[in-house]
Amino acid sequence: MEPRIDPRVDLARLPRHIGIIMDGNGRWAKKRFLPRIAGHREGVKAVDRVVAHARRMGVKALTLYSFSLENWSRPREEVDALMGILAEYLERELRRMLREGIRFNAIGHLEDLPPFAQKMVADAMRDTAAQQGMVLTLALSYGSRREIADAARALAREAAAGKLDPEDIEEADLARHLYTAALPELDLLIRTSGELRLSNYLLWQAAYAELYFTDLFWPDFGERELEAAVLDFQSRVRKFGLTEEQVAGRKG
Ligand code: IPE
Ligand code: IPE
Ligand code: MG
Repeated sequence: MEPRIDPRVDLARLPRHIGIIMDGNGRWAKKRFLPRIAGHREGVKAVDRVVAHARRMGVKALTLYSFSLENWSRPREEVDALMGILAEYLERELRRMLREGIRFNAIGHLEDLPPFAQKMVADAMRDTAAQQGMVLTLALSYGSRREIADAARALAREAAAGKLDPEDIEEADLARHLYTAALPELDLLIRTSGELRLSNYLLWQAAYAELYFTDLFWPDFGERELEAAVLDFQSRVRKFGLTEEQVAGRKG
């Protein structure tokens, strides 16, 4: 049966863009005396639940931290298995994305991926390019500091070419060179597994995101947990530096 949406969720006030640091696959597996890879496989099921439910709710953008630049230093076996899981995921989910109006997007140093994975990623992006319902972005071979350095390099190039005066550089100039330039503002950032850190994820974009941490391991995350994060988000007062009175007045 299709999971329903908790009626307490205010669908008119959804976060525009949700980011998730999907952590804890390894510990989920370890607790069950299973190999880490089994945790990653179970983690994909959580991805399916969360993508489908975010779409059902009407979330416009969901960005999942799937593989970091730092993750390349994991054991070769695990890296290879993750690349295989990624390709399988795209192969299996492409039809559903097309059916449900999901546009697939990927950010990060995609050229680092093995060629078969690069091809799956490029094909999925091309085939879903016209979908309007929700943009699902996977961060792959992604590092936020690298992203910011890449943006700085692009700006320096523009300046060197005489297209941009360094004195005129504004925040928005840097933002338009981030991999997320075309995505809405990050409103909610979720991390599972009890770790309280960003691990080089969307550092610039998270400047005013609401942060939500849960002790659950990623394979245990699902529809209800996503709703819990959104409900928590909706219960918060976002002040953006103002006083509570000012914020109340604005709504008034
Ligand atoms: C997150 O789970 C998935 C990836 C980083 C690919 P982990 O593999 O980091 O799981 P833990 O943190 O070891 O439990
Ligand atoms: C962050 O998780 C990366 C992904 C979820 C893909 P990690 O498990 O790699 O982060 P650390 O090592 O705990 O900071
Ligand atoms: Mg981890």
